[in-house]
Amino acid sequence: MKVMPLQKRGVSDSRLVLGCMGLAENWEPVPLTAEDRKRTAEAVEAALSIGITMFDHADIYCRTKSEAAFGEWLAAHPGMREKLVLQSKCGIILRDDVLPEHYNFSRDHILQSVDGILKRLGTEYLDILLLHRPDPLMEPDEIAEAFLKLSSAGKVRHFGVSNMGASQMIFLQRAISQPLVVNQLRLGLGHLDFLNQGLWVNRRDGVDVNFGEGILEYCQMEDIQLQGWGPLEQGKYTGRPVSPGDETTARTAAFVNELAGRMETTPESVVLGWLMKHPANIQPILGSVNPKRIIACQDSAKVAEQMTREDWYKLYSRARGDAMP
Ligand SMILES: NC(=O)c1ccc[n+]([C@@H]2O[C@H](COP(=O)([O-])OP(=O)(O)OC[C@H]3O[C@@H](n4cnc5c(N)ncnc54)[C@H](OP(=O)(O)O)[C@@H]3O)[C@@H](O)[C@H]2O)c1
Repeated sequence: MKVMPLQKRGVSDSRLVLGCMGLAENWEPVPLTAEDRKRTAEAVEAALSIGITMFDHADIYCRTKSEAAFGEWLAAHPGMREKLVLQSKCGIILRDDVLPEHYNFSRDHILQSVDGILKRLGTEYLDILLLHRPDPLMEPDEIAEAFLKLSSAGKVRHFGVSNMGASQMIFLQRAISQPLVVNQLRLGLGHLDFLNQGLWVNRRDGVDVNFGEGILEYCQMEDIQLQGWGPLEQGKYTGRPVSPGDETTARTAAFVNELAGRMETTPESVVLGWLMKHPANIQPILGSVNPKRIIACQDSAKVAEQMTREDWYKLYSRARGDAMP
């Protein structure tokens, strides 16, 4: 039985995480609606029903409405807080059209952001705080000061990063006294650079591969939990209509279906299980808010254990659209 880094550290044993980016209907600066509350309750309860106890937020999701909706659900379910692992992120400042305007890892911004997150979620502590995207102006000593303050005040138990390379993590870790326990990146069957990057050592091909060198190895060596965002690829291989002429996607989706039939499970569990078979014990952050789709992910850990090396490679090369080099 494989053990995830967060499990080794006693932080979480939830093999899947529910991503909370879509809990509210939109990113408009308007109050929560009854529909937002219903969607949140149904998604959270579907996740709990299949053993998901970890939830991924960010202060920007739906312009803070995702955290607010989750906080309302939590307030209506006394006794649940201690059973859940809540993760959120800070550091992105949005423009009016909700694209990132700039990043801010200053001490004061981090401290203020966490106060806002705790208030919206209605909790006294966050289990994990992630820095959302690298800020070119980041100063490790300033971040370290903020983390120390948050940790000593009992507001945040663990810290991590998102979308960072290994050298950026090493750079920060030299100043920060708490271990960085998570790196959340785009990882999935439709975003294969995390694997392709390792195939091209000493070869001229692959110049367009875009994944920081050594991230997978560094995180595995340091017991840092790799989390994959976007792991369902927005349904690309699990039922969303394939664009005419896109043979690579059509062939991959057909093989996902074939495997689901053979393994007596769903296409969603195959797509996630393929990612989870990687030895880094990646934790997928699934972004569905549809209860049926969330429940369709329930066999993914079993698929990860049972998928053969041959089928894992077959799916990888189908999705690459190319044979192995
Ligand atoms: N760290 C970062 O920078 C970062 C960036 C983006 C996201 N995230 C995190 O990762 C989580 C997941 O991201 P994601 O939402 O992009 O990933 P995802 O899990 O790949 O996709 C989920 C989305 O795809 C839709 N979908 C799935 N299967 C479908 C199908 N067969 N047909 C039609 N639609 C389908 C879902 O709709 P339904 O809801 O209707 O199922 C949902 O909107 C987010 O919630 C967030 O927590 C992190």
